Amino acid sequence: MQVIKTIEEMQKFSKAKKAEGKTIGFVPTMGFLHAGHLSLVKKAKQECDMIVVSIFVNPTQFAPNEDFESYPRDFEKDSERCRKEGVDVIFYPSAEEIYKGKTKFVEVGEIGQVLCGKSRPAHFRGVATVVTKLFKAVIPDSAYFGLKDFQQFVIIKKMTKNMNFDINIIGCPIIREKDGLAMSSRNAYLSKQERNEAVVLNKSLALAEEMFSKGEKDAETVRQAVSDKISETSGKIDYVEIFDSASLKPVNKIKKRNRIGLAVFFGKTRLIDNRGFE
Ligand code: PAJ
Repeated sequence: MQVIKTIEEMQKFSKAKKAEGKTIGFVPTMGFLHAGHLSLVKKAKQECDMIVVSIFVNPTQFAPNEDFESYPRDFEKDSERCRKEGVDVIFYPSAEEIYKGKTKFVEVGEIGQVLCGKSRPAHFRGVATVVTKLFKAVIPDSAYFGLKDFQQFVIIKKMTKNMNFDINIIGCPIIREKDGLAMSSRNAYLSKQERNEAVVLNKSLALAEEMFSKGEKDAETVRQAVSDKISETSGKIDYVEIFDSASLKPVNKIKKRNRIGLAVFFGKTRLIDNRGFE
């Protein structure tokens, strides 16, 4: 397994492999890898010849009051995990390498201002910008994203199409802890009590699904029941929304394949989760 730190070297690697007729699968991450990230690597390995994982904690997707500085980092452990999974390259650039020169941003418009974008208005601009830069460095055939960050997945898919990137964007299912909490690098911040309480997120999404399957179609009724359940804990709701899975716009009457998404603070830790109605 190689560790590549410069864009030029990364491009050289990818071009050489492509010239040999090999396909490149790419998993962008911010590191502190867990089984959720590794599920993307496993999927990429099934479909592509060479696997590139990027580890880059991207400053432009964090607001000044957010956790960029304290975001968990452990390169040694991450590289061990990647080696075990059979990753070929870790792309591990510095912020100077990625953001040399004057930064131009990739704007995502209205779709970046709903759901998580309401409380993190510059977040998806930062994500779209770094993913564009990573795509230009890695030149993948396919890139793998988790549905845990559903809005991110939809925005990247749209951006890829709009910018004419010749890259398949593959969405992968949410990987959960045994008790149902969606895996996240940020779970490491939780106190024992917060960690115990956080299971309410998945449970409240399951309640929404149960209400829907028993015939409840009114989005506000379901939204309220979910909010009430979360409010039984110390969790502070950022949003609970039921929305169309392509436009991300809120719906009044729930239909199959609509989604429910939420963001909740436990202490200072903001957790997100979502689920499709089936
Ligand atoms: P990060 O939070 O490290 O996540 C990297 C990828 O892993 C994302 O596609 C995310 O959706 C996926 N992922 C995280 N937890 C998951 C889980 N429990 N189940 C399935 N997939 C999961 O998302 C980012 O980094 C960044 O915004 C990035 C795209 C790298 C741009 O900086």
